[in-house]
Amino acid sequence: MSKLGLIASVLSIAGALTFATFTVSADDAKADDKPTTAACVHTEFKTELVKAACAKGGQQEAKTAMKAFMKEKKIKSCNACHAKLAPKYELKKDALEQFQKAGGK
Ligand code: HEC
Repeated sequence: MSKLGLIASVLSIAGALTFATFTVSADDAKADDKPTTAACVHTEFKTELVKAACAKGGQQEAKTAMKAFMKEKKIKSCNACHAKLAPKYELKKDALEQFQKAGGK
C-alpha cells in the first residue's frame, strides 16, 4: 500500500470512530430530550443551580443546566443521580451528595 493510501485509510477509520461516538451520544440525548416546558417537579430546592434554572425556564432549563454541569464535571450519565428521568426526575438517595462532591452548588 502506498504511504498516501495508508494515511487515507487511517483517517477514514478515525472518521468512522468519531462518527460512531457521535451517533451514540446523539441517541443518548434524544432519550431524555422530550421537549417539555413543564415546571419543575421539585418545589423545594437544595441546589442553587437547579433552583435558578427552574425559576428561569422550568424543567427544560433545568435539563440544560444539568447537562452543562455533567459535561463540566465529566459525569457520564444522568442515571448516576437520577433513578428515573422525565417527567419526575426521581433522585437517588445520594444524588445531592454526589452533586455537591462534584462541586455543584
Ligand atoms: C451529580 C448528580 C446529578 C446528575 C449527574 C444529574 N442530576 Fe439532575 N438533579 C440532581 C439533583 C441533586 C437535583 C435536585 C436539585 C435540587 O433539589 O435543587 C436534580 C434535579 C434535576 C431536574 C429538576 C427536576 C424537577 O422537575 O424538579 C431535572 C430536570 C434534572 N435534574 C435533569 C437531569 C438530566 C437531564 C441529567 C442528565 C443530563 C441530570 N439531571 C443529571 C443531581 C444530578
